[in-house]
Amino acid sequence: MVALSTAGTYHPAMTSSLLAAAPWWRPGSGRVLVVRGGRPLVGTYPISGAKNAALPLMVSALLTPHLVTLRNVPGNLDVAVLAALLQRLGCEMHWSARADGLAVTMSADRLRPADIDPELVSRMRASVLLLGALLARCGEARLPLPGGDAIGLRGIDFHIAGLRAMGATIALDGGMIEATAPDGLHGADILLPTPSVGATENLMLAAVLANGRTIIRNAACEPEVADLATCLAAMGARIAGIGSHQLTIEGGRALGGAVHAVLPDRIEFGTLACAAAASDGRLVLPHGRIALLGAAAPLYEAAGIAMHETQDGVIVERARDGLRGIDITTGPYPAFATDLQAPTMALLALAAGASAVTETVFEQRFRHVGELRKLGANIAVVGRTALVRGVARLQGAAATCTDVRAAAALIIAGLAADGETRLDGLEHLDRGYDGMAEKLAAVGADIARSDTSG
Ligand code: UD1
Repeated sequence: MVALSTAGTYHPAMTSSLLAAAPWWRPGSGRVLVVRGGRPLVGTYPISGAKNAALPLMVSALLTPHLVTLRNVPGNLDVAVLAALLQRLGCEMHWSARADGLAVTMSADRLRPADIDPELVSRMRASVLLLGALLARCGEARLPLPGGDAIGLRGIDFHIAGLRAMGATIALDGGMIEATAPDGLHGADILLPTPSVGATENLMLAAVLANGRTIIRNAACEPEVADLATCLAAMGARIAGIGSHQLTIEGGRALGGAVHAVLPDRIEFGTLACAAAASDGRLVLPHGRIALLGAAAPLYEAAGIAMHETQDGVIVERARDGLRGIDITTGPYPAFATDLQAPTMALLALAAGASAVTETVFEQRFRHVGELRKLGANIAVVGRTALVRGVARLQGAAATCTDVRAAAALIIAGLAADGETRLDGLEHLDRGYDGMAEKLAAVGADIARSDTSG
């Protein structure tokens, strides 16, 4: 695996805590990603384990004194940051590199609720998942309010309300979350206002150790949520309704260890399908699974991405009759994934005709629009909808990655554009993907990091 980061972004103390917890992590040297477009992507591009599954799965190790081993862990910055947070809490980790990605064996035998570095937490919203796990295992948790992508309010009110219903006392004070449950947590009947991925995971992590039955209604049913539930079940948790909108958890049972392989990353898979079609190439995506795309699968076919599953992986390429505009509306799984909205928009910028892209999950997830426009995309935003009118060619330009998925979108646009694209804001790319630039170079992209900004 290759793990990079943006030079100068980390102070030395943070770099050493990341390296101590995730020895495979490397702060990268290049501040700018230079993409020279016009080359079709051809070859085999390995899809990593899903970041959004790996993070909650790592937190699940806090629930037991026994060993939890995860395989197919993606080597990205978010994983390294979470590893540093877990190490600070007394969780021991042993990493090894394997053919199928990183493997980590975790031991939370000597877990201690410690103060958590606000700088680390500010870099990753998923750090809020520590709340449910620490409350359930230790009866207390003290956590700075989480950070993450600047894509909306991303409140944690559902997490807080659910944990309170389970008996926790929670105060928000000066940017800190102070939570206690001196008498332990108990089961509760919880209705989520919307099927929040993070809230479902947080409450599930707490519920498996809480006494009695917890029902999570209107639960998120993203494949990553199901992957967490499957691992918890392997640890001995009793969870019914895995993969559905209602989870019933019989808690209170001590959990054992488990060995679990992280689900393949459906977002990286969809992103590479867009990249192959945008560059008019042909990629084999081992570990890709069309079914995991949910509603995106038929829409991609309609947009002119040909996909078929083979024994070696999914073959993705541009359909013979070219790219066509489509209308998409993001939503909770199995609706079109909000995390694929930006990469898909980059493809649609090159499709014949018009597309309407409506974002319903996050209220500020169009920051990539202005950046794609710099490359010549014709996109207008009206409320929650972006109207994309396809253009024949994009033109390379300097642009900024504004969040994890915007980074992927800009790379797709740069790969298809004429001339040179220079991207900064690479911390976002590093947060979400394991060596994406290197993997793209291996399938023919002209892409490299550079320290020179001009
Ligand atoms: C997770 C994913 C992220 C993805 C998102 C939606 C991880 C680490 N991140 O984020 O990549 O884009 O799911 O698929 O898995 N909300 C509240 N209050 C809450 C919780 C959520 O108002 O307490 C709102 C959010 O502001 C957002 C919506 O609910 O508008 C969905 O958020 P949620 O599903 O919780 O996303 P995350 O778990 O943060």
